[in-house]
Amino acid sequence: MKIIDGKEISNNIKAKIAKEVEEMLKKGHRAPHLAAILVGEDGASQTYVASKEKSCKEVGFISSVYRLPDTITENELLNTIKFINEDEDIDGLILQLPLPKHISENKLIEAIKPEKDVDGFHPVNIGKMVLGQETYLPATPAGIIEMISHAKIETEGKECVVVGRSNIVGRPTSVLMSRDFKPGNCTVTLCHSKTKNLREICKRADILILAIGKPEMIDETYIKKGASIIDVGIHRVEDSTKKSGFRLVGDLNYESAAKVAGAISPVPGGVGPMTIVALLQNTLKAAKKQIQ
Ligand code: GUN
Repeated sequence: MKIIDGKEISNNIKAKIAKEVEEMLKKGHRAPHLAAILVGEDGASQTYVASKEKSCKEVGFISSVYRLPDTITENELLNTIKFINEDEDIDGLILQLPLPKHISENKLIEAIKPEKDVDGFHPVNIGKMVLGQETYLPATPAGIIEMISHAKIETEGKECVVVGRSNIVGRPTSVLMSRDFKPGNCTVTLCHSKTKNLREICKRADILILAIGKPEMIDETYIKKGASIIDVGIHRVEDSTKKSGFRLVGDLNYESAAKVAGAISPVPGGVGPMTIVALLQNTLKAAKKQIQ
């Protein structure tokens, strides 16, 4: 069984990005600049944003984080986005989700200038992705595609099953895996909470992509011998043998799956670092467009 090492792949890509930044600086341009808006105190969102900030620093990007209280009004948040849209010294903007309930995520995402939407969440950019036009691909699906490409997993004509239909991961990943592109050209099945016979459908997959949100739900009984598995889930489960008192697991029961799978992306160290690198790539692309 092959372990798809997202950490290693992402480190190689980061080194290339860092070199490109050096070149930009040598030519007298400023470094790419990613801004993030973080609303409220959600623990997972704070961790993600801190991790994005750290990665920006590693490759020489400028990063700024707008930390706002969860009492903020929709209008105030809209004004912050407008302000960043107009700031020529900022190339990319991400609005960390989820937002507090009183704020419409759709309305705010639509307020982001599509040219700065390095998360690829704006309807214009999602439309372009579906049509196969040049755009910013959402970071997690883009990271998954890049990982499949680097791991040299054959996709053409293969059965790909995606479990989970979220706008951020499952649905866009299903679109990208069915594109006439390499990697792509899969026959894709998108499963969700109302799917019947999930086990039987997963068992057909040559490539199984899990974005379910249930710790260690998928075991060997769902997996065809030799299948490649991409695990997008990330969950803390209690573990008294660890100093921290917890360990990280994915949607996959790794030990069970390893008996039959051909390749697995682990948690941690799989999709997570690839997602961040995809965001950095989008930001670099946005910065290059500014100087063209
Ligand atoms: N929340 C969970 N994943 C993401 C992501 O990729 N981008 C943003 N902005 N928020 C998220």
